[in-house]
Amino acid sequence: MNISRLYLVIGSLYLIVGIVLGMYMGGKQDFTLAPVHAHINLLGFTLMTLFGIAYRVMPHMADNMLAKVQFWAHQIGGLVLLIGLFLLMSGRMPESTAAMVMPLSEMLVFVGMAAWAVNLFRNA
Ligand code: HEM
Ligand code: HEM
Repeated sequence: MNISRLYLVIGSLYLIVGIVLGMYMGGKQDFTLAPVHAHINLLGFTLMTLFGIAYRVMPHMADNMLAKVQFWAHQIGGLVLLIGLFLLMSGRMPESTAAMVMPLSEMLVFVGMAAWAVNLFRNA
């Protein structure tokens, strides 16, 4: 599994989705989903591209369990968080469901970031 390439490629897909949503919001002049757009671009594209470049510059950091934990936590947590945010802000998910789903996805994203930080402290 080439973590650097996966981050870069998946990040580019988030960028396409994020930009399309931005263009849609601009066209409709409806900015309700601006936070969804912002986090698709930032959590999806910007952070993943940063991780992809970092793992390319420091490839020894990609060969351990921390990098794998970070990768899967960010992928699953990020995707659930963004879909959840979209459903919540577009009125398709009741707040009671969001109150259960969102903290779980946020914790996963947090676990990914913590694994990234520990990996950096140990191996960067
Ligand atoms: C063609 C590309 C893009 C279009 C058409 C677009 C469009 C928009 C629109 C219409 C808004 C809402 C503005 C408002 O609420 O008044 C917005 C907000 C935002 N966009 Fe984009 N965007 C694009 C690309 C990006 C990219 C690449 C990023 C980040 C990497 C980004 C980050 C943000 C952020 C963080 C906000 C929220 C700003 C705030 O709430 O103050 N956008 N964008
Ligand atoms: C688990 C991860 C995250 C959670 C739970 C989270 C949560 C939030 C919340 C609740 C807001 C306020 C939205 C509003 O005013 O309606 C916000 C805004 C914002 N966050 Fe995050 N965030 C996360 C990750 C990030 C990351 C990684 C970045 C940047 C790389 C980021 C950048 C921003 C920006 C620029 C705004 C202002 C944009 C706007 O108001 O639409 N966030 N975030």
